[in-house]
Amino acid sequence: MRDGPSLYLRLGGYDVIAAVIDDLFARLREDPQFARFSVRSLDSHHRARQLLVDQVCALAGGPCIYIGRDMRTSHAGLGITEDEWDANLRHTAAALQKHGIAEPEKREFLALFTQYKGEIVETTGAPAHDIAAR
Ligand code: HEM
Repeated sequence: MRDGPSLYLRLGGYDVIAAVIDDLFARLREDPQFARFSVRSLDSHHRARQLLVDQVCALAGGPCIYIGRDMRTSHAGLGITEDEWDANLRHTAAALQKHGIAEPEKREFLALFTQYKGEIVETTGAPAHDIAAR
């Protein structure tokens, strides 16, 4: 573990993490490439948003506890592709940029996501399609 202040503190704490995640979700909602993930209730969106904020907060060394499901379970069957994964990381980087996060913290934040790539991307699964049709 790194000496000195946690990533959580260096990012600026809970409110900054929540603002970055909200910005990421706004970008995903506006991107037609992610339209197939938007056909869900507002409550489902709120649930996923809050769990992601908690997860990042906990992983960054903050005072949160992640009580959601593991990444393989919560994304299984969504058929998330490499292209969607790359686009998601680009939106995340843009959201971090917008909130003035410095380069080292940006890299560490993105690494919190990339460690789960193997559990989230299903390149061998069915091609991308509308999950609402399931
Ligand atoms: C292309 C990339 C991604 C897409 C399209 C995506 C999509 C989704 C969708 C549709 C859900 C809701 C599943 C449901 O309703 O049950 C979900 C849940 C979730 N995702 Fe992702 N996701 C992506 C990447 C990530 C990454 C990088 C992380 C963080 C490491 C993450 C963390 C979560 C969490 C914490 C939940 C909630 C888990 C739970 O329900 O217990 N996702 N994701």
